[in-house]
Amino acid sequence: MTDAEASAVGLRARYTAADLEVFTAEEARRFVPAGDGDPRQDVILAWELLYRLEPELYDRLASAERLHPDVVGWLPGHVDRIAEVGAGTGRLTMELAGRGREVVAVEPARPLRRILSHKLAEAGHGDRVRVVHGFFDELPLPDGFADLVVACSAFTPSPGHGGDAGLAELERVCRPGGCVAIIWPNHLGWLTARGYQHVSFPGPMSVQFGSYAEAVELAEIFYPRAAQEVRRLGQRSVPFEVLGINPPRDLMFKVMAG
Ligand SMILES: C[S@@+](CC[C@H](N)C(=O)[O-])C[C@H]1O[C@@H](n2cnc3c(N)ncnc32)[C@H](O)[C@@H]1O
Repeated sequence: MTDAEASAVGLRARYTAADLEVFTAEEARRFVPAGDGDPRQDVILAWELLYRLEPELYDRLASAERLHPDVVGWLPGHVDRIAEVGAGTGRLTMELAGRGREVVAVEPARPLRRILSHKLAEAGHGDRVRVVHGFFDELPLPDGFADLVVACSAFTPSPGHGGDAGLAELERVCRPGGCVAIIWPNHLGWLTARGYQHVSFPGPMSVQFGSYAEAVELAEIFYPRAAQEVRRLGQRSVPFEVLGINPPRDLMFKVMAG
């Protein structure tokens, strides 16, 4: 998560400590390990509440923030099995559906799983993609399960959102010779130190909101510092730079020893 997101008072102001009771015991153990927390101070906690309390709002944002097409194009095209972790509402999953014989989408937040399952069924991918509950540090998959193990805008070095235990799990479920890919990574140095290589795809990138009105509405919540500029631009397409976030043009990967 970027500094700009960390300063997102708009999102933080939506929730209070009382909302933390929405977490299951497994979620609380990871997201509020000390037993308490305040989403008004901790934007990462506010994002976890967003996924559970206002999943449709989150889905509107993720649908607008599209990945660079070459990121998906870089991934192996036709493999046997793919595991995606932190699948959310399917920004990447919908692309993976046609690239593997069997795709497993692991997602801890029940409301996001519900939206993802609905989207997959609507697109006719319900049979090929299995949506399951799980966390980075405890994946419900056997050793060497997948040819491609991937996470998009979800993995971070923090223990609650991956960390060393989570990375070890991603690598455990990848077969020898298979690939672990972290898309839209936010800590390049941390992954480089663990043997990951960086790929970045150039070109201008914009967030494609559904309308100008939606651009203003979502900027006020997710990018309050940029809201005035979004209003001034007067358009539904807003360059990532205006919003103060790095565009989703990067990935880091490791091919597992065969
Ligand atoms: C910003 S969303 C990205 C979702 C999706 N990959 C995308 O690109 O649209 C982050 C996702 O990571 C998931 N997540 C958070 N903590 C997690 C954990 N410990 N293990 C697995 N997924 C986690 C969240 O529930 C959420 O779906």
